[in-house]
Parts: sequence; C-alpha cells; structure tokens
Amino acid sequence: MSSDKIESVLGEKRVFPPRPEFVKKARLDAKKLDALRAAADKDHVGFWGDQARKNIAWQTPFTRTLDDSKAPNYQWFDDGRLNASANCLDRHLGARGDKIAIRFEGEKGDARNWTYKELHAEVCKLANGLLSLGITKGDRVIIYMPMTPEAVIAMQACARIGAIHSVVFGGFSAASLKDRIEDTGAKLVIAADGGNRGGNIIDLKKATDDALASGGKTVEKVIVYQRTKHSVNWDAKRDIWWHDLLATQSERCDPVWVEAEHPLFLLYTSGSTGKPKGIQHSTGGYLLGAHVSCQWVFDLRDDDVFWCTADVGWVTGHSYVCYGPLSNGATILMYEGVPTIPDAGRFWKICQEHGVTIFYTAPTAIRALMKAGDEWPAKYDLSKLRLLGSVGEPINPEAWMWYHRVIGKEKLPIVDTWWQTETGAIMMSPVPGATPTKPGSCTQPLPGIAAGIVDDSGNLIDQLDQGGYLVISKPWPSMLRTIWGDNDRYISAYWAQFKNKYYVAGDSAHRDADGYYWIMGRIDDVLNVAGHRLGTMEIESALVSHPRVAEAAVVGRPHDVKGESVFAFVTCKGPRPEGAEADALSKELRDHVAKEIGAIAKPDDIRFAENLPKTRSGKIMRRLLRSIAKGEEITQDISTLENPGIVAQLAGKA
Ligand code: PRX
Repeated sequence: MSSDKIESVLGEKRVFPPRPEFVKKARLDAKKLDALRAAADKDHVGFWGDQARKNIAWQTPFTRTLDDSKAPNYQWFDDGRLNASANCLDRHLGARGDKIAIRFEGEKGDARNWTYKELHAEVCKLANGLLSLGITKGDRVIIYMPMTPEAVIAMQACARIGAIHSVVFGGFSAASLKDRIEDTGAKLVIAADGGNRGGNIIDLKKATDDALASGGKTVEKVIVYQRTKHSVNWDAKRDIWWHDLLATQSERCDPVWVEAEHPLFLLYTSGSTGKPKGIQHSTGGYLLGAHVSCQWVFDLRDDDVFWCTADVGWVTGHSYVCYGPLSNGATILMYEGVPTIPDAGRFWKICQEHGVTIFYTAPTAIRALMKAGDEWPAKYDLSKLRLLGSVGEPINPEAWMWYHRVIGKEKLPIVDTWWQTETGAIMMSPVPGATPTKPGSCTQPLPGIAAGIVDDSGNLIDQLDQGGYLVISKPWPSMLRTIWGDNDRYISAYWAQFKNKYYVAGDSAHRDADGYYWIMGRIDDVLNVAGHRLGTMEIESALVSHPRVAEAAVVGRPHDVKGESVFAFVTCKGPRPEGAEADALSKELRDHVAKEIGAIAKPDDIRFAENLPKTRSGKIMRRLLRSIAKGEEITQDISTLENPGIVAQLAGKA
C-alpha cells in the first residue's frame, strides 16, 4: 500500500453508528453480538460445535468438534457426515421449493429465474450425468464457465456426488487451465462454448481444447454447456453437450454423504513463490463458515435479493454466490457481464429491475463506478437496497464515502469484509446492526475468530497503531485444510514463520484505540490488481519464458481504479530495445503474459534496462523498483548496489 494511502487511513476519524431503523430488524444487535463473542471467548471449540449443530443439516451428527492432534492440520467435526448440496437445496424444498433461488441476467439482457425446485432438478440431472460418465466421490472436476447459473449447477452437482470441484476463472488462459488440470489430476472438465463479456465472446471451448492439446492427459471427457452458440471444434470421442447429457437423466439423485473433512473444492491462488497453490477446503467446516457469515455479516433474510458481483472463479463467488446464500435459502442474483455494458449504469439498472436488497462488490468496481459519475446511479431507483458490502482489497476512505453517500444515500450500513481464499469465509467485518463503521476499516473479527497482530519475533502487539503481521491464533472451521498435494508447502507458507503457533495471513495491519483493524496490504510479493491476487514471481516467470527476455522483476504500482497495477522491469538477451522496437516488444510481452496466465496479469508498464538493481549478494532491490515505478525521487541509499548507474536507466531517464 502506498504511503499516502496509509496516511489517509491513519487520519480517518469518522464513525458511523448503526441506524436505529436497521438495528430494530437486524438479526444481530450489539447485545446479541456480544453474547456470541462472549460464548466464543469462553469456549472456542464448544461455540463452533454449537453453531455446527444449529446451522448445518447432518446426516450423521458429529461427536468430535475439533481434532488438533495433527496441528496445524486441524480437523473439524470429523466423524460427522453431510452433503453440501443437500444443505443448499434439499433442505429448502419443503418450505421454499417455489421460491426463486437464482435470478439471472446475461450481458445481452436475456434473463431467467430458477426456483429451488428447478435448481434441485437440474443439479440432480447433471449429477446423474456425471455418475454416468464414471465420476465418483473424490474425483476432481474442473469447471471453466461464464457467470451463468450453470456454473453454480456444476459446483452443486459435483458436491452432490462427492466429486471435488476446482473452478478456474474464465479470464485465465489455456496455459493456466492446463496447469490446474494437471495439478488436480482432473478426470473431467465442465466448460461452456463461451461467455459474453464486455461485448465479446470469451472462447472457453477453444481455451479448453488448447489446454488439452498441450497436456492435461488425465481428462477423459469434456461437458460443454452451450451459451454463446458460436461454432466450436468438436472431438466426438471426448466432448459431450450438456443438453445432450442431461436430456435422459432423472431429476432425482440421492446425495452422497461424505465425511465433514472430505474436500469440497480446490481453488488455486497466488503466493509469493512458485506456481499458484491449490487451496483445499473441507465440506463441513467450510459450509459452516460460509453459512453463518451470511447471517452475521449480511443479515441475510428470506425476503432478500442478494447480489455478490464476484465471479464464481474466485473464493468470493464460492462462498457468497454459491454455498453461503443457497445454504440459507436466499435468492441470489447472477450477472454474466461487465458493469459498463451498454453503459456505466448497468449495475444500478440491475439493482432496480431485480429489487436487489444486498449488494456486495469490490473496491475496484466502486472506484470505477465512482469515476463514471453520480449521474448513473441517479437514473435508477435504488430504494430496495438495505446493505452494502466491500471485499478483496483495502477500500480507500474516498471510495467508501462515495459508496455511503451516493449508493447508500447516507443511510445504508457498509460492511468492509476482510478474508482470503484460505480462510474460506469472512473473518473480520462490521456486523451491520451492531458495529459502528469507520471508512477504510474492516473493524473487528467475527465471533469465533481469534485475530491478532504480531511483530517480527511473533510477539502479540498490544500497543495501538503499531503495525505488524496479521495472524489468526486459533483454528476456525472454514480454514483451508492443506495445499493440494503439498502439505509441506501448506506448513511453510502459512505456519512455519512463527513455529506453527499462528496462521500467518500475509497481510500487515494495525489496530486503533477502539480495537478496530486497518489492513495495510500484503507484505509478501503478492499483488492485488483490481481485486485479483497475482504473484510477482508468476508474472516474472511468464516474462522470462519469452525468448527475448533474460531477466524480469515485477512490482506493483498504485493505481486509482485497480488499486495496484503491474509494473515490469525487463532485461533482454541482446541489446536493450529502444523506440519503436521497445514499443513492439512491450506489446508482444504483454500478449505473452496474457497467454501464459490471463489478461488480468498483463503489465501496464514495461521498462527495459541493461540490468536490474542488485545488491552485491545478487538480490534484486524490489524496494527501489517500487519507488521507481511510483515515479518517486530516489532518496534511498543505493551505495550497496552492484551497479548504481542502472538507476537512471530504470527510471526511464537514460
Ligand atoms: O490482502 C488481503 C486482500 O485480499 C487478500 C486475499 O485475496 P484473495 O485470496 O484473492 O481473496 C479475496 C476475497 C476474499 C487478502 O490477503 N483483502 C481481501 N479483503 C480485504 C483485503 N484487504 C483489505 N480489506 C479487505 N476487506
């Protein structure tokens, strides 16, 4: 995070108490929240056991709440059995069978609603289809779909038969898809022909074909949902149309009961080293976290229309599009496209037309919509909205205040939710009927979440306003269980730094006099570009895989809409390119990164130099590169550099 941003949040003094109208109807007021906190503080494990009994439908009740004998590989509710899809669908069929589960709108304006009964029937048909293809409990299935209800149906169908899904965001390239197929050893891919995004067709089938042409040999079949209907290549031995497969399947499929620790899904995310990690989530603990956080944070009720704008390719889409709201029997909204098609009023038009009551999005979207101008939301009736949320990166007070003033009409609570792919569910957030909010702070940990801040030696910091590592000191049910296929990396990435005593989130934070947390951003080499998490090393490896590139160093640069943008310093084999040659190579490298990872990782800036700034021991001085990327005057001591003369060149001044 840039120092000016830190300044601005440290100086933030505004406080917005919950409004009495909201508190009156809220699921949790301050008293109830205090009672939950007190119960969790008194008996952490007992608290979660009670929550699990109260909120989850178990086929076999658990008798053991937490098994910490193999810590930090914690197990929760491990002798209980359940099914996530039965929790999301079957248990609502009685009281809510005809209630709308999903309201869908395509980018081109096509719309369709699914009741719980209809969703259940479709999930069962696909689940039977998967069984007919030989997919069984524990098999991995890759889902590579646009934001249509079929993506949720695919996730639920896997969960129904105990297959482990791994959703790959449709914006990732064929090469990234191939890596994920190979790491999971998936037997099946569920893809679409394409999706509509930004007025274009994203050709998911072609990317799937390319991924499978270059590897992914474990894949036996590809199910293709027909969305865009453009012409696609067809491998008759391997590819099956979704509609053909489902045409003959029964609408009944008994759920496969799985142990609470059975993996529900794998989701890949970037870390500071190596390739993206397959974060493994459990069925019971994960579902509990997604479920209760919907009640506590979003105050979710039966008459809500809940719109979380995240793609199901990210954890936010897993917990707050698919599992959390559906397990609560809510109505969700799914929108296929981007916020600016046909114009910057699209999100607000959707809110009006679908009667959205809870709106949950990312600061990058809020900043983009803020930039588009107040006239867009002003055109639409947003009076049904009752709660606003933010997730994915620190929200700057200016964007928070705009959200509050223009969208919330100075009345609606804003929940700034801090969490991660690894945590499975929201960890820190205001509880809207109970917690006064401050622009830019995610306020306090939820009940049963033991957060803290520690210094370099792992001592808890009690003083206020002193920054440190954000850690979690007690296990929680929705925590990741391991990294798929690499438990050593699980321990080294999250636990080893403080001798397995704390889960280390990778963020820095500080606390103010009210005990409110302020997240300052990542402390590792992970960037947060438009709410997407990207490892600098991944982008560097993509760059050096280009034949002209000798070495690359990537840093983040503050960006007023995206939060951060990717800035790459590159040295070439042969002479340093200049002028038109440099421009052409920049474009080629940007396209190359899009091919290797996905368009979201494309560097905004590429600067060519004869060398990178290194210390005499050969370490790249990233701090210096970050200053250069920001265009700051270099005041740092560069005398330890092996090649101080390079600084002017890196700064674009030579
Ligand atoms: O740096 C924090 C930031 O996003 C990271 C997690 O990214 P990911 O696993 O992709 O999950 C994003 C959606 C949960 C965190 O380590 N982050 C997330 N939410 C916030 C945030 N930073 C500040 N405030 C938040 N509310």
